[in-house]
Order: sequence, then structure tokens, then C-alpha cells
Amino acid sequence: MNEGMSGRLAGKIAVVRGGASGIGEGIVRRFCEEGAEVLLADIDVAMGNEVASNCGATFIHLDVGKESAWQHLESTVRSNYRRLDVMVNNAGVVSALDITQVSVADWDRLMNINLRGMMLGCQTAISLMRDHPAGESGSIINMASSTSYLAIPDVAYTTSKAGVVGLTKSVAVHCANEGFNVRCNSIHPGATLTAILKTAIEQMPEVEEACKRMSPLNRMGTVEEVAAMAVFLASDEASFCTGGQYAVEGGTVSQHPRM
Ligand SMILES: NC(=O)c1ccc[n+]([C@@H]2O[C@H](COP(=O)([O-])OP(=O)(O)OC[C@H]3O[C@@H](n4cnc5c(N)ncnc54)[C@H](O)[C@@H]3O)[C@@H](O)[C@H]2O)c1
Repeated sequence: MNEGMSGRLAGKIAVVRGGASGIGEGIVRRFCEEGAEVLLADIDVAMGNEVASNCGATFIHLDVGKESAWQHLESTVRSNYRRLDVMVNNAGVVSALDITQVSVADWDRLMNINLRGMMLGCQTAISLMRDHPAGESGSIINMASSTSYLAIPDVAYTTSKAGVVGLTKSVAVHCANEGFNVRCNSIHPGATLTAILKTAIEQMPEVEEACKRMSPLNRMGTVEEVAAMAVFLASDEASFCTGGQYAVEGGTVSQHPRM
């Protein structure tokens, strides 16, 4: 644990899928600083290993859309850690294809990562967390978007992020009804300055102003601001929070677009 941090996740075992860059990397960094033992699961072996060794996390290769990869992750967690406290389902991709452009193959590729992968992440998490001794609880955190509420032309992305809300609520209600002591919530970032946006801004400088204008605060969010919400939801401070949608978007969806 770094000096100055409060150890809000001390003793917790966490998996962050899609932790090799952007928001996921920020979450891995903060979780490690807060005292969690973190498994960084990502398809990108080089970046994943680099980030993990910088932060004190452990890298595990995972293609989130593959069922067999999740089975491998589950058996690794069971044999090495015996339990799981936090699962962050973060990995997501965009397609930039509207309804007239998207092919079935494009649609399936995106849904495989953004929704099927998230459903498998929830299944794996519940399977590991429901065995917790009494008194301990698990937290599943699903990365959605302000796009869950406000559509963009990228039809598969918009649909997948709206789907995350339904998935999260269904998982939360089921776990509560079954008495599993597992919470499940979604985080909804607005435009957040990660590599994807940085590249877009380099290529098209007007994107920067457009992204800033989305929020009445007139700026983009940072990965640290999203990671701070993940720390809260992962911690025992969020013990009465389940099935919720947590916005980190500077008021983006509160503002009338024509004002
Ligand atoms: N950046 C934003 O402005 C923004 C806004 C709202 C929501 N989000 C959401 O936040 C999440 C992270 O976005 P980001 O901007 O940090 O993206 P990013 O591209 O920087 O990071 C995504 C990570 O997921 C990994 N990944 C991709 N496909 C994978 C697969 N099949 N299996 C395992 N790992 C895989 C990548 O290797 C990468 O490390 C996404 O779900 C995204 O939709 C981002």
C-alpha cells in the first residue's frame, strides 16, 4: 500500500478485466494503492504484464468473450486465492458503425466482448463469491457509459451499454433474492481521457471541444475519477448499494442538449 492511501480495500482479492489500459489501468492502480490483491485480466499480454508489474498486480491472460478462458480464470482464483471479493467487468470496445453500416459479424464481435463477456464475468464472480464465509460480501462492478442513456450512432456500442443496465439489475436482484451477499452495480463514465480519445483528438482536434461540451462542467473526466467510484463500490462502505447506476460524467445526462 502506498503512503497516504487509506487501505479501503485492504485484504480484498479483486479481478479487473480489461485492466491493461485506460480506465481499467486506473482501477488496477487505485485498487493496489488501497491494499487489494489484484489480478489484471486482459487480452493484451505485453501491456497487461507491464501495468501489472508497475502496480504490484498479477497478470492473467483472458479473452473475455471465450467461455473456456473464464473457466481457466475461475480455477486459477480458486487454487491461488480460494475466494474472490471484487470483480470489475471493464473491457469494452467500440465499432463506429451505424445501423445502416453494421454487419452481423461486426455486431457479434462487439457484443461478444461488451455483453457476452460481461455476462460470463458475472457468472464467474457469483460462482466464486457465493462460497464466502458468513459476514463477507462480494462486489461486481460493470462498466457501462453515459451512452446507456444517450445514444450515439455506433449502434452496437449504444445497445451493449444499455444492455449492461439490465444485466446489472438482474444479477443484483437474483443475488439478493438468493441471499448470496453479492452486490452488483454499474458505473457510467462520460467522455474520459483515455488512449482512444487521445488518438481521436490528435487526428481530429475538434473532437476535444465536442467531448468537453458534453458536460456542463466543460471538461472531460479522468481515469482517476472513474477509479475513485470503483473503489467506493468495491469497498464495504457501499454495503447497501446494489442494482444501482453510478454516474461519473460531470452532469452530461442532466443537461438538455440544446441549452
Ligand atoms: N473512455 C471513455 O470515454 C469511456 C466512456 C464511457 C465508458 N467507457 C467504457 O469504459 C471501459 C474502458 O474503456 P477505455 O476507454 O479505458 O478503453 P481502453 O481501450 O483504453 O481499454 C480497454 C481494455 O480492454 C481490453 N480488452 C479489449 N478486448 C478484450 C477482450 N476480448 N478480452 C480482454 N480484454 C480486452 C484492452 O486490451 C484494454 O486493455 C469500456 O467498457 C468503455 O466502453 C469508456
